[in-house]
Amino acid sequence: MSGPPVLWIHGFPLSSDVFIPQRAISDARHFMPDLRGFGSAAPPSQPLSIDDYSNDMFSLLDSSRVRKAVVAGLSMGGYIALAMAKGNPERIAGLILIDTREVADNQAARAKRLEMIGAVEREGIDPVARDMLPRLLSRNASPELVSRVEAIIRRSSVTGVTAALAAMAGRPDSSQLLPRIEVPALVVVGSEDVITPVADSERMVARLPNARLHVVEGAGHLSNLEKPRDFNEAVGRFLAAEMQI
Ligand code: MLT
Repeated sequence: MSGPPVLWIHGFPLSSDVFIPQRAISDARHFMPDLRGFGSAAPPSQPLSIDDYSNDMFSLLDSSRVRKAVVAGLSMGGYIALAMAKGNPERIAGLILIDTREVADNQAARAKRLEMIGAVEREGIDPVARDMLPRLLSRNASPELVSRVEAIIRRSSVTGVTAALAAMAGRPDSSQLLPRIEVPALVVVGSEDVITPVADSERMVARLPNARLHVVEGAGHLSNLEKPRDFNEAVGRFLAAEMQI
């Protein structure tokens, strides 16, 4: 593999399997880890913050001897990407912010996460699958794709899910950070995203000094998975234009 290192950080309650279509992006060295307690990663043994996941990502880069990478974060992965940009900006070559947002949870969103933690502790993964699955893809997604996403969700561990919910509830607002991020950024969003709608991405682009927006028409929250060709072309153009590292 040649080209810039790209670290892909998945969303909640998913795994790196959502990035399988992005392996086709050539001229990049892809790193696609599972966050703790998701996919094949061991569950966390203690509560986590978004900064803890960010530290995990830097440790992975360290163990691969990668000093500087493009960080591509999908939704919760975007929250982690912003934490990485805040903590170690010199290690970030560029950002790809996918169906995500910079603002913190409001009180209602935080309360819903705490309720979900209780439900998952009592009933397992079912409640989170019921809540998330109908909102992750557009209404036009094929039943086959819906089943694939459901299978990914159901591999998640209870402690992985509850730790991630608590970490997202406690994450800081990154609005003041965005104007200080000078590296090139690509902000991508599905036109049908109901979790982080297009307006969230437009606001991030307005606050970032060096960002461009790409709207994936007809895709929901998992825009990379639902319309991989459109998504991959946008990323390929961004990497070719901006990333000579
Ligand atoms: C995600 O896709 O990672 C989550 O929907 C993010 C969130 O719940 O804020």
